[in-house]
Amino acid sequence: TKGNYRHFMLKEIHEQPVVVAQTLQSYLRPVEAKVALPQMDFDLSAVERVVIVACGTASYVGMIGKYWIESLARLPVEVDVASEFRYREPVLDGKLLGVVVSQSGETADTLAALQHMQAAGVMTAGIVNVPTSSMARTVDLLLPTHAGPEIGVASTKAFTCQLAVMAALAVNLARAKGRLDGDAERELVAHLTEVPAYMNTALAAEAAIEAVAHHVSQARDVLYLGRGPEYPMALEGALKLKEISYIHAEGYASGEMKHGPIALIDDSVPLIVLAPSGPLFDKTVSNMQEARARGARVILISDAAGIAEAGEGTVATIEMPSVHPLIAPLVYAVPIQLLAYHVAVLKGTDVDQPRNLAKSVTVE
Ligand code: F6R
Repeated sequence: TKGNYRHFMLKEIHEQPVVVAQTLQSYLRPVEAKVALPQMDFDLSAVERVVIVACGTASYVGMIGKYWIESLARLPVEVDVASEFRYREPVLDGKLLGVVVSQSGETADTLAALQHMQAAGVMTAGIVNVPTSSMARTVDLLLPTHAGPEIGVASTKAFTCQLAVMAALAVNLARAKGRLDGDAERELVAHLTEVPAYMNTALAAEAAIEAVAHHVSQARDVLYLGRGPEYPMALEGALKLKEISYIHAEGYASGEMKHGPIALIDDSVPLIVLAPSGPLFDKTVSNMQEARARGARVILISDAAGIAEAGEGTVATIEMPSVHPLIAPLVYAVPIQLLAYHVAVLKGTDVDQPRNLAKSVTVE
């Protein structure tokens, strides 16, 4: 049931601190300050390359996983959407780990991609929410998410639980590849443990986000910008908004603005910038200022330090807690979900059952 919530989507957004904690609990050993994956009969230290395949929102988990696995484990990572992967004759030799990411475990293209990898002799792992699904039963290593049933068609809590498991996989690969000493792992485990509390802080910004929704609900087009792991988050923000509010939205890597999309900017276009402060913050801010100089109505999602530095001249800011870069995507998921939700409510669309969409896409 929806309990006291108006929509399943809103309930599922608010469930995230609990279900992400539940999911992390099965991957973190807080006493030893280690990450642990389920028992497997292959050796992660032998892996030399990772291929991640998924569709839609789950594919953005793959893109974020690429940033994490490459930086922590120094393994090359390839990410593709399943509908392209299965038909593009991918090169699958070498000591490869194939990873699929899926809420339902039944998405036709992702399942076919998984079968394709297995037929080529690739070891596979699956980050899957439905434990009885075809993918859960097929993968060599099941990495379950514990999001519980997701009813809203737009994925929210399954997405952040997938990110939590992807982070655990990245840390585990880093240790297996000899790239992480005990102290470094202890520190990352501590940051992951903090995620549910920071998600609660992010949820507490809901009233401010609801106010910002009024700046977006009248727009015809909306752009999202982010850099590093916040680039896939920009794609996710745009997808969420499109799906449930039917407003045209696109996400871009901040540095790509000037290579085309800046031509779209005028004073009717809200520009949502996802920019936690950190080493790349100033670069993203300069991309943001270029757009602002052309009239863009900037909505900056950042932490207190970022807002103090770059909040001037924006039409609105949404303050997030200051967090370690590894966990920023999990925390920043909350405001982009709530923003899409409140814009859709203002527009009066069917939030839980958006037009033309099905919860599980079992035909290609
Ligand atoms: C977006 C959304 C879809 C799914 C995609 C994959 O909100 O829900 O993009 O992420 O259809 O579905 P699963 O994860 O079931 O394979």
